[in-house]
Amino acid sequence: MIKTRIAIFASGTGSNAVNLIHFFKNDSSIEVAFVLSNKADAKVLDSAAELGVKTMSYTNTQVADGDFLNTLCREEKVDWVILAGYLRLIPAELIAAYNGRMINLHPALLPNYGGKGMHGRNVHVAVIANQENTSGITIHYVNEGFDKGELIAQFHCSLNETDTVESLEDKIRYLEQTYLPTVVRGAILS
Ligand code: GRF
Repeated sequence: MIKTRIAIFASGTGSNAVNLIHFFKNDSSIEVAFVLSNKADAKVLDSAAELGVKTMSYTNTQVADGDFLNTLCREEKVDWVILAGYLRLIPAELIAAYNGRMINLHPALLPNYGGKGMHGRNVHVAVIANQENTSGITIHYVNEGFDKGELIAQFHCSLNETDTVESLEDKIRYLEQTYLPTVVRGAILS
């Protein structure tokens, strides 16, 4: 049986990319085609390569080129694109080509704490500064609005006055590690 091929885009450590790779390793319907990063020295590239997954790194100029990415994904027979800790804007041409087949992970409860500059640690700093009593993760389809695509799922965690940016990061990581792969699989197979 021909498997659905997913490309994972990531910019940093890649704990989510690694989790997805493990999860889909022996999946009967889905396989990871490659991991792409815009940072040549991103840890995610080493981790993915160690797990036997093809890796690619391109410059910020290259990953801003929609035709370039479309050609690449077409050549690699990519069916879905998963953004897991990817910090660059996706060109409109790629969003159009993967309409309904591109998923982003966001470390907050959108529409709160989304949009420009709201990524990674910045999000957690803002959440703690505002003394929120809840945060969480959002898994959503990607459209041309920054963090504005249709929701697929959200998962919450509670916060109290003792929480710090670091403890919030731990709670978010736990939610990501627990839920992202099954939600991605469910969206692809639905
Ligand atoms: C994750 O919290 C993700 O939601 C956010 O950036 C972080 C990346 O972590 N966008 P990693 O690179 O997957 O370890």
